[in-house]
Order: sequence, then structure tokens, then C-alpha cells
Amino acid sequence: MKVLFTGIQPTGDIHLGNYFGAIANWVRLQHEYTSYISVVDLHAVTIPYEPSEMPGRVIDLATTLYACGIDMEKTILFVQSEVPGHADLTWMFNAITPLGELERMTQFKDKRDQFRASVNVGLLDYPVLQAADILIYKGEVVPVGEDQVQHVEFTREVARHFNSRYGPTFPECQALLTKSPRVLGLDGDSKMSKSKGNTIGVLETPEKIWAKVSPAKTDPARVRRTDPGTPEKCTIWSYHLLVTQEPELTEIHNGCTTAGIGCIDCKKRFQANLMKVLDPIRERYGELAGSGRKMVEDRLEANAVKCRAVAGETIREAKGKMGLKKVWKIES
Ligand code: TYM
Repeated sequence: MKVLFTGIQPTGDIHLGNYFGAIANWVRLQHEYTSYISVVDLHAVTIPYEPSEMPGRVIDLATTLYACGIDMEKTILFVQSEVPGHADLTWMFNAITPLGELERMTQFKDKRDQFRASVNVGLLDYPVLQAADILIYKGEVVPVGEDQVQHVEFTREVARHFNSRYGPTFPECQALLTKSPRVLGLDGDSKMSKSKGNTIGVLETPEKIWAKVSPAKTDPARVRRTDPGTPEKCTIWSYHLLVTQEPELTEIHNGCTTAGIGCIDCKKRFQANLMKVLDPIRERYGELAGSGRKMVEDRLEANAVKCRAVAGETIREAKGKMGLKKVWKIES
């Protein structure tokens, strides 16, 4: 089986962007690939955070992923900082990465603007660590949302640089997108993102979700209930595409364009369909977070052992190619 690798940061609750943009694919693809999913805590420390909260966030994220349908038996879900090889390979890749390529990364430019007062080297080096994450397991398929495609392309570049300098070692991976690779935020202006405060969390209660959905912007042309709308200009319609099936989908589209249904009706139907997806996730999370917590912790521990073995092999191979092997005498 081909190797799949992907990662997610423990920086807040999983939202619909993560779920429909990426995680739904991870759940589907875990049956077709040898799957590694990493909780990337080393990436998360590049932005301000509270150290005492990090362990809880890591476990919470892993628990939520299992609740979303990641299979404990099939997928190797692990914590990045538990596998030292990721940082080792990052350094080896640093030595062959042109600075200009990192300065061009969109996510780096965004973060640099956001944290103008203190731009740390980790933010710049972030894609190199991401490349190391993928390539240390010789990942070929990388299921992500659209915002990570540039990083996956960069990973291909890193593999190419390494292979041409030291000989064939790493595969050139491919990004794999869902049919909703960029889920909009509730503000309708930008992608759903933890840092923008425009999210619907997968574990949020129906009441909390309704408090966010009911006042959300819709097509600005629908000022009155009787005004016909254009679904393609409405964030809620983009959400219906995630959770509503035919024939209801066409019914809602027609209802909007003919003013047959109002925005509140449309939102209620979206909420009802969304909860069909989220209710079972919240229930499973409740079970796992209670009596199942020890099981999650043990599984992460066991998976880290597996990962250290695979990663160790790659590090040995890369060191060998780079002349970093333990051969003390110089051959004449
Ligand atoms: P992160 O933690 O920001 O997001 C996890 C996954 O969710 C996707 N995503 C979205 N997809 C669609 N619409 C949205 N609004 C949306 N928001 C988030 C992301 O694209 C991602 O797939 N750098 C990565 C983590 C990482 C990684 C890796 C990924 C570290 N190493 C190696 C792949 C391979 C990140 O910050 O994802």
C-alpha cells in the first residue's frame, strides 16, 4: 500500500473547515493507504501559546480525530514531538533549502504580518519541518485543504533538491483535495480559520451552533423575505453543499431563487442536516474523553514507538547519503 501522511495543529477545536476540507478524506482514505496522521505540536509552538495547556490540547485533538472516524487499528495517529527524527531531518533539509523559497510562502507572509513584533525563525522554517514530516515516512499522498497545497508543492521541491544532491531517496508527493477544499468562515469573507474567529466547531452544542448560524450573513440582495436570492452568493448555501443531499439540495436552491423559502428556514434546514453529521461525533467524543482517555493515550504512545522505528530508518539512510555515517577513517 502507498503511504499517506498528513498533519493537524493542536491550536484549537476542530472546525467544519478541518472536517469537510480534510478530515473527511482522511477517514475515507485510511482504508486505501498506510496512513500516518500527526498532531503537529512542534508546528504549533511557532505561534504564541500557553505551555500548561498544550498537553491537554494534544490529547483533545487526538480524541476528536478518533471521534470523527479515524480508526485506531488502521491509522497511525501520533504526536510529532514524540519522534525526534522530524527535527533531525528538518535540519538536513535546511541545508539544501534556498531562503528565497521560504520567504515566498503565502502562510509565512500572512503570519509575518500577523506577528509583526516577533517573527521567529520557526515561522519561516515551518514548511521545512512539514516536508520532513511527510518525507521521513516517504509519504506519497498528502490529503489537505487548499491552504496547504503550496507547502506540499514545496515538499516536492525539497525531495527533488535532496535527490539531485545526494541520490534518489525521497518520493515526490501529491496533495489530495476534497470536493470542498476551502470552506468559508461564518463571516463569508475568508476561509474558516481558528485565528479568524469565524468557525463552527465540530464538538459545539446545537444551541451554540444555532447562536452562530442564525445571525450569519446571507446573500445581501435578500433584504426582505420576498426578495429572491442567488445561492452562489450565500455562505449558508456553500454549507448546504457540505451536508445536504439531493433532492433537498435542489429544493433549497429553487426555494431561494424564487423566494419560496426564507433565509431562516434555509438556515434551520442546514442546521438539521449538519447535526446529523455532528451529533454522532460529539457522542463518540464524550465516550472517548471519559472512560476512553487512557486508551487514547496508550495508542498514541504505541504509535510513537512505531513511528520512531520507521523514522530512524530514514534518518540512517539520509545520513548515509550525506556522508554523516559513522565511518571514522577516511578511505584513500
Ligand atoms: P491545520 O492544522 O491548519 O489544518 C488541518 C487541515 O485542515 C485543513 N483546513 C481547511 N480545509 C478547508 N477549508 C478550511 N477553511 C480549512 N482550514 C483548515 C488544512 O488544509 C489541513 O489539511 N501545516 C498544517 C499541518 C501539517 C501538515 C504536515 C499537513 C504539519 N505537517 C504534513 C500535511 C502534511 C496545518 O497547519 O494544518
